[in-house]
Amino acid sequence: MPPEEFRRHAHHVVDWMADYLAGVRELPVLARTEPGDVAAALPDRAPEKGEPFEAMMADFVDSVLPGVTHWNHPGFLAYFAITGSGPGILGEMLSSALNLNAMVWRSSPAATELEEVVTDWTRELLGLPPAFAGVINDTASHSSLYALAAARAQAYPEVRDQGLFGLPRGRVYASEHAHSSIDKSVMTLGLGRDAVAHIRADAEFRMVPDDLVDALESDLERGIRPVAIVGAAGTTSTSSMDPLGALADVAERFGVWFHVDAAYAGPAAALPEARNLFEGWERAESIVVNPHKWMFTPVDCSILFCRRPERLRDAFSLTPAYLETSEQGQATNLMDYGLALGRRFRALKLWFVLRYFGSEGIRDRLRAHCELARAFAERVAATPGWTVSAPVPFSTVCFRFEPAGRDPDTVDALNRGIMDEVNRTGDVFLSHTELDGRFTIRLSVGNLRTTPERVDRAWTLLQDAAAAL
Ligand SMILES: Cc1ncc(COP(=O)(O)O)c(C=O)c1O
Repeated sequence: MPPEEFRRHAHHVVDWMADYLAGVRELPVLARTEPGDVAAALPDRAPEKGEPFEAMMADFVDSVLPGVTHWNHPGFLAYFAITGSGPGILGEMLSSALNLNAMVWRSSPAATELEEVVTDWTRELLGLPPAFAGVINDTASHSSLYALAAARAQAYPEVRDQGLFGLPRGRVYASEHAHSSIDKSVMTLGLGRDAVAHIRADAEFRMVPDDLVDALESDLERGIRPVAIVGAAGTTSTSSMDPLGALADVAERFGVWFHVDAAYAGPAAALPEARNLFEGWERAESIVVNPHKWMFTPVDCSILFCRRPERLRDAFSLTPAYLETSEQGQATNLMDYGLALGRRFRALKLWFVLRYFGSEGIRDRLRAHCELARAFAERVAATPGWTVSAPVPFSTVCFRFEPAGRDPDTVDALNRGIMDEVNRTGDVFLSHTELDGRFTIRLSVGNLRTTPERVDRAWTLLQDAAAAL
């Protein structure tokens, strides 16, 4: 594509993007397609001869867009809502244009050094001590996998060269509400899924430290080797905070690696009024925070902070002759801190986000999201027949419609019906979880385009659906 042709199409694409962001609120937030619809609208094979760009754009709009669920829609209140903010999108565009690969310092010094700078800015924003160094991965799933690989190397120093064969069984301790990425990491690391001890949570969905101690003592008696304790700072279902200080005490007492999964709630540590909830995370060995969840950075961007990054490097570094450089030992080679050699320039979009909003702007927006969620929770709690199912420390609310005199299975089906009915409108998109075995609706505010009116709309739709059903 010659530069002038690129310029013409790029202007068109940027105009399309600006119109899309301005008008996304008019589209149905949840894709209205059936499985297979999008694929069926596309040819079976790639074209033999190149096609004009206009044709691709037209097919993108006609065949692809109808199958898109709009995560940038103000009515996206499902899972953990996220934002591809303007500065983040522009950073992503520049990063694509450069198409650099920051595998070693030399392969793009600016990418490596900007990653070191922006992860340090983020560390500071979140109030973590300077001992923590950050590295950017694609997702929290990979960040936790790498942290637990370093924990495994601490528990089994011989694992790097000899594997786990013939060694005592290991155990990773996490709340019964820990994200499935922890179980998947343990499976991937060859410890076996049974190696995850799911520790009971209390009535507020926070891990019970005494149960953790009991599990550790009983495992040690049986010759099982503790590998890591994982605390959640914002569980996926309810955004509950495990008691991180108490977990850090246990980790220190038993000499076990302490990893904190703060994928969603981590950015809230930037709020002085929320900082106390994070007390104890500064004593962790590793922490994952996802700017692509609640810090307005387009997917993907997950920071793994490590107190002793050399532990991560010891677990992963392996330099073949063709990757050796003369800067070895003087500069960071990011390939040493995880599995992947290739590395996108993710730091650029995070840099733009941090600079465009500023720390104050980020704090103001996080605060506004928490206020929207709390106001919604108050309305739910104040309405007869409706129940808020969990505390609301941040911007996520779990709730149910529980009319008197119905058996629990009927109430589950009713709530599922209400959620489906609301989602069919296309105005808002809500998701669900299971709490104490019961179907529970979730509303999570995290998109910068979400307004109080949109949350009001969600509440009206919920009440209408409950009345109709
Ligand atoms: C607490 C928690 N940890 C980890 C993850 C996984 O995040 P990712 O999609 O970045 O792997 C999630 C996803 O919602 C989460 O809520």
